[in-house]
Amino acid sequence: MVLLLRYSCKLISRVSFFVCILCTAFRLNAVISHAESNNKTEMLAAYFDSPGEPDVLYVNQVPIPELEDNEVLVKVQASAINRADTLQRRGLYPIPPGASPILGLEVSGTIEKVGASVGSAWKVGDKVMCLCNGGGNAEFVAVHFKHVMPMPANTNFLEAAAIPEVWLTAFQLLHFVGKLQPEDYVLIHAGASGVGTAAIQLVTLAKGKAIVTAGSEDKIKLALELGASAGFNYKETDFSEEVMKFTEGRGVNLILDCVGGVYWEMNVNCLAMDGRWVLYGLLGGRSVNGNLFLELLKKRISLMATTLRTRTDEYKGQLVEAFSQQALSHFERGYLKPVMDSVFPLDQISAAHEKMEANKNMGKIMIRVAKDNTDAIGVVDSINNINKEETQIKAEL
Ligand SMILES: NC(=O)c1ccc[n+]([C@@H]2O[C@H](COP(=O)([O-])OP(=O)(O)OC[C@H]3O[C@@H](n4cnc5c(N)ncnc54)[C@H](OP(=O)(O)O)[C@@H]3O)[C@@H](O)[C@H]2O)c1
Repeated sequence: MVLLLRYSCKLISRVSFFVCILCTAFRLNAVISHAESNNKTEMLAAYFDSPGEPDVLYVNQVPIPELEDNEVLVKVQASAINRADTLQRRGLYPIPPGASPILGLEVSGTIEKVGASVGSAWKVGDKVMCLCNGGGNAEFVAVHFKHVMPMPANTNFLEAAAIPEVWLTAFQLLHFVGKLQPEDYVLIHAGASGVGTAAIQLVTLAKGKAIVTAGSEDKIKLALELGASAGFNYKETDFSEEVMKFTEGRGVNLILDCVGGVYWEMNVNCLAMDGRWVLYGLLGGRSVNGNLFLELLKKRISLMATTLRTRTDEYKGQLVEAFSQQALSHFERGYLKPVMDSVFPLDQISAAHEKMEANKNMGKIMIRVAKDNTDAIGVVDSINNINKEETQIKAEL
């Protein structure tokens, strides 16, 4: 018995010795990796020299951004592309003053450095997702500390990078600008877009009813799966007539409109009295031809236009705070899901832009930045597997 006890004690002490060595090695490794990146002055970033088609994009070696006192430096794991990036690449989107000229409006990653006035809000090593004022399609990005959110539990880096820009935009359109009420009918154009897929889920969460328009049956099917009550293919039908039928003549209370121009008449036709129309993009043209003002007066319609990127740091900070309080826990519980279309490595960013400009995506087009990102690789594999399964099913049919 005594022998057995002595043997067990020896074994326990040896095991703890090895665990100790392993932990020290792990910590040392983490310290070295921080020290390495602290000494780095350059990073890889998506870049273009002059505006043009997607093939002007390439990966360049550029300086790591300097940190302002109210910023954190994030080591980027994943990022995404947005329409604003494609417009900027074409030279059609003036960069707001002080913003990074590098593309990329959202990232996930870990905090590498903290600015002098950030205080205890964030610390080195925190896993975060951020709304960026540009600069996200790169290995490092400097972000205002109030535009940073913790990654929801159970989300990987790719999923987290699919959240900031389109979910904050949708939240802003619905709650800050559109004043969404429970039971409202909300018409969401481009229902399978990044913003559209987020808006459908946020409307449902707030007990409203989402109706979408989209350009294909597959896109409408996705919108219905995400919770939309109805969806209409704008290429085949006058959506305003369908909306009036579906709402039994009541019309919609709110429209989220990223199309503009060609939709104005159908929008006013299917808005309810005192309806709100939030314009946030001009995919369908920038001018109107006809009696827009008269139609607005007849139904007492409020037409509001908004852009997120040009808002002040304070406004964005308030938006991030409200979204974090009201929405983040729903990601953790699985009620809200970022919808990802595909993942491209940083050096294939031109193919990602091409896909977006061809309107082929449903949900977000992601950019994998860190090569050693095992989370991201896992998701890439699972998306590839889904694609393989879909191809196999289609082939069998
Ligand atoms: N104001 C802001 O703060 C803000 C912020 C973020 C995004 N945005 C805007 O929001 C929109 C959506 O952005 P996103 O990143 O979510 O886009 P996205 O995922 O690229 O989806 C855009 C979709 O819009 C549809 N579309 C394109 N041209 C159209 C047209 N002429 N008429 C009708 N539908 C058209 C296409 O789907 P179909 O196949 O269904 O036609 C396309 O896939 C963009 O216009 C973007 O600039 C604005």
